[in-house]
Formats: sequence, C-alpha cells, structure tokens
Amino acid sequence: MSKIVIGVSSSISIYKSCEVIRLFQEKGYEVQVVMTENASRFISPVLFKALTGKPALVDLFKEGISEHIQHVHLADEAVLFVVAPATANVIAKMASGISDDFLTTFYTAAASPVLIAPAMNERMYLCRSNQANMERLKAAGVRFVEAEQGYLACGKQGYGRLASVREIVSQGELLIQKTQSLKGRTILVTGGPTREYLDSVRFLTNRSSGKMGFELAEEAKRRGAKVVLISGPTHMIPHPEVQFIPVETADQMGEQVMKHFEQSDAVIMAAAVCDYKFSKKAAGKIKKKNLPLEIQLSRTEDILEKIGTMKKDKICVGFAAEVEDIEKNAKNKLTRKNLDLIVANDISGKETGFESEFNDVFIIHRSGKILPTGKKSKLEISKDIMDEVEVLIERKN
Ligand SMILES: Cc1cc2nc3c(=O)[nH]c(=O)nc-3n(C[C@H](O)[C@H](O)[C@H](O)COP(=O)(O)O)c2cc1C
Repeated sequence: MSKIVIGVSSSISIYKSCEVIRLFQEKGYEVQVVMTENASRFISPVLFKALTGKPALVDLFKEGISEHIQHVHLADEAVLFVVAPATANVIAKMASGISDDFLTTFYTAAASPVLIAPAMNERMYLCRSNQANMERLKAAGVRFVEAEQGYLACGKQGYGRLASVREIVSQGELLIQKTQSLKGRTILVTGGPTREYLDSVRFLTNRSSGKMGFELAEEAKRRGAKVVLISGPTHMIPHPEVQFIPVETADQMGEQVMKHFEQSDAVIMAAAVCDYKFSKKAAGKIKKKNLPLEIQLSRTEDILEKIGTMKKDKICVGFAAEVEDIEKNAKNKLTRKNLDLIVANDISGKETGFESEFNDVFIIHRSGKILPTGKKSKLEISKDIMDEVEVLIERKN
C-alpha cells in the first residue's frame, strides 16, 4: 500500500485533518501522521494513532518507535507529503529550511512531492512575509492547495480558510499520479554550454549555467522516466538517478546525442551549444608571443537540426534565446528545424534567462498554440514544459 505522510500543525482548522486522513484511507492509502508540538496541544496524538493505527510522530528524538532513523526512513517510503493544515509558522520554517522538529526535519528529507494546504486568519494569510514564504516554496517546486475565501474560525469572512478536504485529497492524488506519468519512457536532455578549445587551456564558450537542463532532467525523473542528461561543464549536481554524461565540446555533445537518440521517446535540447569552434586546435598551450591575432573559426554541427531530420515519431524540443521578435523568430526556428515544441525566451531581461534562477518563456507548439509562463523559477518552468511534452508523447502513442 502506498504511504502518505500527513503533516499537522496548530491551526484552528486542525480538526479537518482527521477527514483528510480518512479520505486518503478510503482511497486505499496508508497514512502516517507527523505533527508539531503545538498541534499536539490542540488534538492529542492518541486520536491520530486511533485513526491510522500508528503513533503520530511529534518528537524527533523519541526512541523506541523504530530501529531506523525515522525521518529519513519515512522519507524513503512516502509517495506524498501533505501538510494540512499548514500554519504561517510551519510555512515560514519550510521556506527557510529550518528543521527544528519532526515535521520540518521530515520536509527537508522528503523525496516525494510536497503539497501544502495553508489555513489561517485573513491578515495572517495576506501578511507579506507569509506571501513571500509561499512564493519561495512554490519556486522550490512545492505545490499549494490555495486557501479559500469564506467564514473563518475567528468569526470573520475572508481569505485563509483551509481548502476543502476533497480538493486537498484530489490534488494530492494528482501529484502522486504525476510521479508515474512518464514511467516506461526515456527522455534525453542536453544542458549547459559547450567549450570549443583553441589550445589545451583557452576556449570559446557562453553564459549558460546549465540550470534549465538539469531542472528538466530532474523533473522527468520525478515523473518516473529513465533520463539521460548530456551536459557541458557546469557547477550543477545531477540527480543521482539520472544517467549523467558530461561532455565539453559541441562535437562530443553531438556524438553522445546520436548515441542515445534512438532509445529516447523525447529529446529536449536545452544546451547552449557553441555555433563556432576553432578550425585548428593546438596541442598543449600556445605561447603568448605565438598567439595569432586573427583566428580562423568554423561552424559546429547543428545538432538540433540534425535530430529534426531523423526524428520520426520522437518528440523534439528546442530552445530559442532571442533578443527581438521572440515569437516570430522562435516559430521560424521550430519550422526550420522540424521541432514539436520550442521554448523561447527574451535574453535581454536582466532578472531572467542566462545564469538566473528564473526565466520567463513562451512554450510554442507546432500547431501555433502558445503558452506564456510569466516569470517563474526554472524548476516551475521545467514542470510546465514537461506537462506539454507528456501530452505530446501520449498523443504519438
Ligand atoms: C486558538 C488558536 C488558533 C490558531 N489558529 C491558527 C491558524 O489557523 N493558522 C495559523 O497559522 N496559526 C494559528 N494559530 C497560531 C499558531 O498556533 C502559532 O503560530 C504556533 O506557534 C504555530 O506552531 P506550529 O506551526 O509549530 O504548529 C492559532 C493559535 C491559537 C491559540
């Protein structure tokens, strides 16, 4: 039976967490409750033990419940972590990575999707720090069941009421389904810049940080796909379950893409491959006095164009970094290179694009359908892109 961890904190709406537990159980899930110390002042852990058949975990340092390091072991087992209700306090702690009790420590160890259902008085809900904390968590990939407007426990009407139990459970189930949505598929992702060497120490490159490609690879992995990530040099750490192939030059990247192309259902080319390389690469380091002032360049192979000619039923996704006429130029590139999808962004923006945590893109389909994402973290954008890729793969099969 799949295990869901339900985090309970000390909101007045805590009594509804019992119904959340019951509904997940009715749908066939095993539930483990973790609760804050303050929540245990509202409702005794004994009630949750009676509902779930297992002690509710409150104290990180309590011995005797299990022979394992409980929060890590539970993180390995859980298919979903739902915090319902979530207080402003717990949201703030999660947003900052504070891990000073079982619930928040479990969050930092969690490997599953995380869903938060906030519940609080309207002024607390709209308080700028709370809003900023929720934004930070969203940027980190945490999903929210937005609080509703209505009658609040403080006796007023307003925003901040816990979402309905049905809504929380159905969004939770959707997140679980998402972890399987690319099962059996192979996704090939490229990322990072390439380096084109003049000699053994000097090279031509670009500003790509690799962030987008690494986020895409991780998102495909979270959805259950087999993932191959081919990347130029970056400071990013690949997901341990992704097959990572580090390369340096455009030629090496092209070679690896060709090697893994056949086995892939979709190829997402987020790498910023250099358009040019030095016509000649010197062995060793050229002495300064011998450095030529004019250097001959030649074009690198256009990997995206090449896979566009061999794609058959595979889904091919390209990126277009534009400075003007973004939509028009991106659509031309999509047609010219025979792609299914192109992700276009305006690289003249200071706070988005290269080397930034954020981006603001248009996801453009071959059909002409355009989805503007607005400014979002690259993690959130990778989810939007993967949603589209998933639909395209489904449609082809
Ligand atoms: C009667 C009562 C109701 C409360 N309701 C809420 C609430 O709905 N949402 C919230 O964020 N905080 C609420 N609080 C405040 C939290 O309990 C308080 O911030 C606490 O420190 C949070 O602890 P925890 O997040 O570790 O559970 C309430 C407090 C009391 C005494």
